[in-house]
Amino acid sequence: MSSAPTALPRVLSGIQPTADSFHFGNYLGALRQWVSFQDDFEPFFFIADLHAISVSHDPKKLADRTLVSAAQLIAMGIDPERSAIFAQSHLPEHAELAWILNSLTSFGEARRMTQFKDKSAKDGEGSASIGLLTYPILQAADILLYRPQYVPVGEDQRQHLELTRDLAQRFNHRYKKTFRLPEPYILKSTAKILDLQQPSNKMSKSGSSPNGIIDLLDDPAVSAKKIRTAVTDSDSVVRFDEAEKPGVSNLLTIYSALTGRTIEELVASYDGRGYGDFKADLAEVVVDFVTPFRDRTRELLDDRAELDAVLKGGAERAREVASRTLADVYERVGFLRAQA
Ligand code: TYM
Repeated sequence: MSSAPTALPRVLSGIQPTADSFHFGNYLGALRQWVSFQDDFEPFFFIADLHAISVSHDPKKLADRTLVSAAQLIAMGIDPERSAIFAQSHLPEHAELAWILNSLTSFGEARRMTQFKDKSAKDGEGSASIGLLTYPILQAADILLYRPQYVPVGEDQRQHLELTRDLAQRFNHRYKKTFRLPEPYILKSTAKILDLQQPSNKMSKSGSSPNGIIDLLDDPAVSAKKIRTAVTDSDSVVRFDEAEKPGVSNLLTIYSALTGRTIEELVASYDGRGYGDFKADLAEVVVDFVTPFRDRTRELLDDRAELDAVLKGGAERAREVASRTLADVYERVGFLRAQA
């Protein structure tokens, strides 16, 4: 007797197109995990261009950055045959569900989110956009529409996932069980890649100085130099100790993640050799990684029609799922059904 094929559980994640390149924090903290989820899950990966306008942005760059983001995802191994790759703004369902979830979220709850507090602190809460305040609610909508099991992200997204689960539960309880409670997938070893110049902070597009961040599409020679000049400390022992030696530990994390060698193995191999050799070798590892990645991304960007087609196909696959969830939500909330 043949049984019907079981549907694969889903995985979903997103990234903002807020810079000309992804950086090593994005790659090691999240994107690499996206790639490995493709084998046993039905994957949905999107470029969060709606989120990107919640802070001031350059409209002349946004579309290009969205396309470069898609090219980078493919270059790092997201396979458009297996994964739906799409632009968030191509699916109005995201904003539509966000509106409904807005109505389930209290003002205080949104205002207490750490990202809002951090990002609005600089110019004062009064001038932050409402988009920044409701950012996590749109993120919850992004996720819940697809009913995924896992959401692979870095540590900085944990609180947003908690809110997502709270809103899913609230909706399910108030109306009818509709949403699956998604689980964050946060790989402990690379959950927070640090700024190379200020290893007390995370590597970040908005917060890092140019020398503190390694962009995947940067000139490899520049990236090598950033590794060689990364802040370490005054003793010269290569040892993993996040509290006492955050700079060295961060470099060890990056080294280990890129080579598959364990931290212990790396520490043992640099015993008695000092930081010079260690940084020079890691710089080489980084160059060997980014060079083909950059070439592949450029090649993909040469065929813009193909990238547009990937995003179109991805949006179609995403819409099939998202529109069904949204129809359930509309019905449960009590909206009058629109006649065809
Ligand atoms: P974004 O665009 O800031 O970052 C994309 C992913 O990279 C991770 N990340 C890091 N991981 C480790 N160390 C770092 N220094 C580091 N910097 C960034 C982030 O945790 C993230 O996983 N709000 C999201 C985008 C988003 C989203 C979603 C994600 C919108 N909707 C739905 C998941 C599901 C964001 O700003 O990511």
